[in-house]
Amino acid sequence: MKVFITRIIPEAGLKLLREAGITIVEWKEKRQLSRDELIAACQDVDALLSVGSKVDRDFLESCRHLKVIALHSVGYDNVDVFAATELGIPIGNTPGVLSVATADTAFLLMLATSRKAFFLHKSIAKGNWGFFDPTANLGIELRGKTLGIFGLGKIGLEMARCCRRAYDMEILYHNRSNNLEAEAELGAKLVSFDELLVQSDVVSVHTALTPETEGVFNAEAFAKMKKSSIFINTARGGIHNETDLIKALESGIIWGAGLDVTNPEPMKADNPLLDMPNVSVLPHIGSGTEETRDAMSVLAAKNVIAGLKAEKLPYPVNPEVYG
Ligand code: DGY
Repeated sequence: MKVFITRIIPEAGLKLLREAGITIVEWKEKRQLSRDELIAACQDVDALLSVGSKVDRDFLESCRHLKVIALHSVGYDNVDVFAATELGIPIGNTPGVLSVATADTAFLLMLATSRKAFFLHKSIAKGNWGFFDPTANLGIELRGKTLGIFGLGKIGLEMARCCRRAYDMEILYHNRSNNLEAEAELGAKLVSFDELLVQSDVVSVHTALTPETEGVFNAEAFAKMKKSSIFINTARGGIHNETDLIKALESGIIWGAGLDVTNPEPMKADNPLLDMPNVSVLPHIGSGTEETRDAMSVLAAKNVIAGLKAEKLPYPVNPEVYG
C-alpha cells in the first residue's frame, strides 16, 4: 500500500506509517503542488495525506480509487466533503490535539495587540526608540474585560479558560447550541451575534469557515463593536472581510486586531494592516508547536492506516460514508 504526502510532515507520523508497512511518497519541493501535479501523483497510490491541498470534486473524480484522504489539519473547508461521501471516499482530520496551541496563539495576539507589541518591536528595529513620552505607545488593559467567543468549541473553550485565568475576563459566546461545559466551568453566557458584538471588549473567532460564517465579520458587524474593542481571528481568514476590517481600524470603528489567518493567504507585504500600531499578524501558525504538529501527524497517520485496512477512520469528517 502507498500513501502520497503533499508536504514534509513530522517524523512521528511517518514512523507509524512505516511501521504499518505503508510505502511513503513525499512531495519535498517547497511550493504548493498544482492540481494536475496532485492528480498525477495520486494515480498510483492508495491514500492521500494532504497538508492544505484543495480537494474538490474534480480532484476526487480523477482519484476515485483513493481508499482514504487524511488531512493534516482540523479544518476541512478546502475539501468537498459531500462529493467525497458520494464517491465513497472517507476523509479524516486531526481534532482536539491543536486546541491548546491555537488558543495560545489567540491569547498571544490579544495581548500583543493590546500593548501594540509587534508594531513597537518593528519601530525599535527601524531606530525609532526615541525619548520617553508618558503619553505615547499606550495600550489597553484586559483585566476584568469581556471576551466574546464566536464559535465556542474545543479551541474557543481553551481561549476562554486562558482569559479567565489570566485576567478574570467575563465570557460571552455565540453558538448554534449551548456549550454546557463552558457554562458550568466558566459561567460563559450564550448570546445573540449582535449582543456578542455590542458587549465584548475582545471578540475572538473560533468557528469553521462555512457558507454561513463566510464574511460575517464585515462593515456592518464591525460597526456594532465597541470603539475600544479588539478583533482576533485564528480560525479562517474567509470569516472576516479584510477590506472592511482595514477601514474599521483606519476610521477608529474598532481599536485593534490580531490575525493568525488572513484573506487571502499569504498576506502581501504591502498590506496596510502590517503598518498599523494596533494590529498583530502571524502567518497561520496556530497549531505550530513541535508537540502539536507531532500529534497532528500521528492522528493523520492513524487515519491513513485505518483507511488502508478498510477500517472506520478513528477521526472521520464524513462518518456518513459508512452508511
Ligand atoms: C487547522 O488544523 O485547520 C489549522 O488551521 C491548520 O494549520
